[in-house]
Amino acid sequence: MKALVLSGGSGTRLRPITHTSAKQLVPVANKPVLFYGLESIAEAGITDVGIVVGDTADEIQEAVGDGTKFNLKVTYIHQEAPLGLAHAVLIAHDFLGDSDFVMYLGDNFILGGIAGLVDEFRAERSHARILLTPVSNPGAFGVAELDAEGRTIRLEEKPTRPMSDLALVGVFIFTSAIHEAVRSIRPSSRGELEITHALQRLIDTQHDVRSTTTSGYWKDTGNVGDMLEANRSVLERLEPGVEGTVDVSSEIIGRVRIDAGAEVRGSRIVGPAVIGPGSVISGSYIGPFTSVSENCRIDDSEIEYSIVLRDSSIKGVRRLEASLIGRSVEVTPAPRTPATHRLVLGDYSKVQIAS
Ligand code: DAU
Repeated sequence: MKALVLSGGSGTRLRPITHTSAKQLVPVANKPVLFYGLESIAEAGITDVGIVVGDTADEIQEAVGDGTKFNLKVTYIHQEAPLGLAHAVLIAHDFLGDSDFVMYLGDNFILGGIAGLVDEFRAERSHARILLTPVSNPGAFGVAELDAEGRTIRLEEKPTRPMSDLALVGVFIFTSAIHEAVRSIRPSSRGELEITHALQRLIDTQHDVRSTTTSGYWKDTGNVGDMLEANRSVLERLEPGVEGTVDVSSEIIGRVRIDAGAEVRGSRIVGPAVIGPGSVISGSYIGPFTSVSENCRIDDSEIEYSIVLRDSSIKGVRRLEASLIGRSVEVTPAPRTPATHRLVLGDYSKVQIAS
């Protein structure tokens, strides 16, 4: 079995963060989202992986390399434009050949891995297996309708009137039957070759499409709120440890990881939280569910439930919450403009002024 990981696309919803970088590389607990997916693929016993890349190819290739660090053998497949998930399958045909494969969306974050799903597929060998999860906003996803026996009978991409609350999670398992299906569909109204349409085509041509419904943790990290939630869920399981230095006037409470080369002075860190290598925290409060990447500087500030990307500095700011701070950002307080009051007061007035 092979794997096809989709890391093309342009990531408009995470702008401006992904204006300068691939959304699949935005870190969750200081590790790029994409790496969690690659680790799950390796854990499921797959080694041959094709990564579909677009405009941000250089960055993805620099981060993943030839895959050796994940025990994978990676082949890069260039997609000229984000023309759809099914288009990615179309252009990957030479790499995939007739193998069964897992298709994994590089911006999806699935806690608990995919080994169970792959085992289920190996045991039964249907033509495709999809992963579904109930969501409160199905209109933002591909949505599936199942019959009484749990067979998938209909799929629709981002429907205005969803027929169920079951969203397609970004992991699919296909046999080579998908290749004919992706060749036979036409672009959707948003101009993409939709994988939901290819799946519908499989169903319509009497192929066996099965589904697993999970209530396990899943986030499509396409927006800031989801990124923060994914970050929170990984930090909850964080292995605590202090490899950096913490001075005596600092207090570390709960699950906190302080990486080598990081320094904490006169600060209070309440976990779960992680401080990346080379970062310096001084005179500050770092609250729960915060990930500070490498080489950041936080002075005289308070921050919680946030992600701070590398080489950024926050000085004299209280209090930041639910924030995603990009790379090489500087956050400082606005200079105080002198407050003046211009008054024309009649005789015997009484005035209270908040100053
Ligand atoms: O996250 C799950 C959802 O993913 C499913 O519920 C939908 O059915 C499915 O169509 C997909 O929807 P999105 O609109 O969220 O997909 P997005 O454009 O965000 O792309 C998902 C990943 O695939 C992302 O890492 C970028 C990459 N990609 C996307 C396109 C359109 C490519 O590599 N090439 C592409 O042409």
